[in-house]
Amino acid sequence: MQIVRTGEELAAIRQLVHRTSALEPHTGSASPSSARIGFVPTMGALHEGHLSLLALAREAVGPDGVVVASIFVNPTQFAPHEDFDAYPRPLERDRELLAAAGCGVLFLPEHETIYPANFGSWIYPAGAARGLEGDQRPQFFRGVATVVSRLFALVRPDVAVFGEKDAQQLAVIRQLVRDLGLPIEIVGGPIVREADGLAMSSRNVYLSAEERSRAAAIFTALSQAKTLFEKGERRGGVLRECVTGELESTPGMTVQYVQIVDPISFQPIPRVESDALVAVAAKLGKTRLIDNIRLRA
Ligand code: PAJ
Repeated sequence: MQIVRTGEELAAIRQLVHRTSALEPHTGSASPSSARIGFVPTMGALHEGHLSLLALAREAVGPDGVVVASIFVNPTQFAPHEDFDAYPRPLERDRELLAAAGCGVLFLPEHETIYPANFGSWIYPAGAARGLEGDQRPQFFRGVATVVSRLFALVRPDVAVFGEKDAQQLAVIRQLVRDLGLPIEIVGGPIVREADGLAMSSRNVYLSAEERSRAAAIFTALSQAKTLFEKGERRGGVLRECVTGELESTPGMTVQYVQIVDPISFQPIPRVESDALVAVAAKLGKTRLIDNIRLRA
């Protein structure tokens, strides 16, 4: 696995990947190879959720392709009161996990590579970025859309993989790529969970032992809503109430939102006809957790 820090180094790798594998025998001219670049952006502190995205990227680009992962704890998506400084940064461990997962290139940009001096082109996504996380964390999607755009410009992937754990982020990225006409295929990866159902997250390390055992209530609540839906319940209000009730009966848990939304537009759905997502954000002590479950008729 190669470790690179600059756009120039990435460009050199891209040239190698896209360069002809063999010169045309008669003309000697280069024919473009079809090798693809797959990309998994992360903030590090990797777990099996991240590694599952690496596997999907590998699959998407095939044996000739190259998978690039980035680790950049993006300051602009954290509010001043949030955990930017405390965010875990176990770089050595991450490096080993990525190498073992078949990552070809690890991109570790400096702050100035992402945000050059006098940077002023922020992306303010609307649409799918409205509501839920957009309400709770007002600068969040501006930070995510801007950093992902910069990473896309530097890595120039053919395909990029994002987790369904952050379902609204995935919807915002799909919207960004669609709206700007970026030639990048976006792949969503299923949520990877711990044995008790808790969605894996770099922030789970903040939970005390007691909080950790209570955190499983989020998946229990989402699963109960799914069961209700499968039994025929279609009223958004009733499905929401089912989740909220379970969460509020968990000691130490504060519900931030429970919403039934359209998985693409992220607009709230009063009545689920065929396809919806139940999205939850809750705090256990100081730790903020998000999760979701898909409802499909
Ligand atoms: P981070 O939280 O490190 O997550 C990186 C990717 O891993 C995201 O696409 C996220 O959805 C996915 N992921 C996290 N937990 C997962 C799980 N349990 N199962 C499946 N996928 C999971 O999301 C970010 O970083 C940042 O916002 C980023 C996109 C890198 C921009 O800074």
